[in-house]
Amino acid sequence: MQTFLGFGIYHYKKIFSTNTEASDLIDTGAILSETIIIADEQLKGRGRNGKDWLSPQGNFYASLIINHKDKLGELGFIVAIAIGNALLSLATDLNIQYKWPNDVLVDDKKISGILLEKRSHSNWLVVGIGINVINAPLEEATCISRYCQPLSNMNLLKEIIINFSNLRSKWLIDGFYDIRSMWMERACKLNEQISVRLASQLLEGIFTGIDTSGRLILMKENKHLVYLDTGEVFYE
Ligand code: BTN
Repeated sequence: MQTFLGFGIYHYKKIFSTNTEASDLIDTGAILSETIIIADEQLKGRGRNGKDWLSPQGNFYASLIINHKDKLGELGFIVAIAIGNALLSLATDLNIQYKWPNDVLVDDKKISGILLEKRSHSNWLVVGIGINVINAPLEEATCISRYCQPLSNMNLLKEIIINFSNLRSKWLIDGFYDIRSMWMERACKLNEQISVRLASQLLEGIFTGIDTSGRLILMKENKHLVYLDTGEVFYE
């Protein structure tokens, strides 16, 4: 096992899901300090809202097991920005955009997704990160290799960890304000019409930003503001 900035790193060639492995390790009491599971390929990668995450060999799949117990929503924005910054270190002119709550896009197409999973009985939080590196498994997605020469996945992980550690330290001292500003600077479709699918309804309105705890703010046609902490965002 190698270590980097306090994280123990376990590397697998093939795994069902790094998030599932991370949760299993937490449940067996094997996690004593912050840990990362990284794999070259997943056989049963999982996405948000119960969807599959197609995980062919060569893309980036990692789960950070971090010690954390509150403000989980805010942490998702920190991870998205850490990924965005890591990608910008590969090519400074990449058009990185953030899509609520935790997606990272390039030129309006998804390049990375984050799956946060909390084990109810512990303070360990699992932060699953998928990044399309050499392969965009869905037509509406993109991948790093379309824009620049990718780093090795281990070096990409290190770049993400450096950014994540810096942002997390700043957040713990200064709070969410600057994180929110960084995210909003690159928010996709800010002040434009979007649709948000909730469990039982579809809402439409102008996306005016996120509030001080990361909730999406939607302005309806009648100018009323709706604050959302769940939902799936769609663009026209
Ligand atoms: C999303 O739906 O946007 C979130 C995708 C998260 C995928 C990553 S890949 C590594 C980790 N292991 C999983 O099974 N899922 C996450």
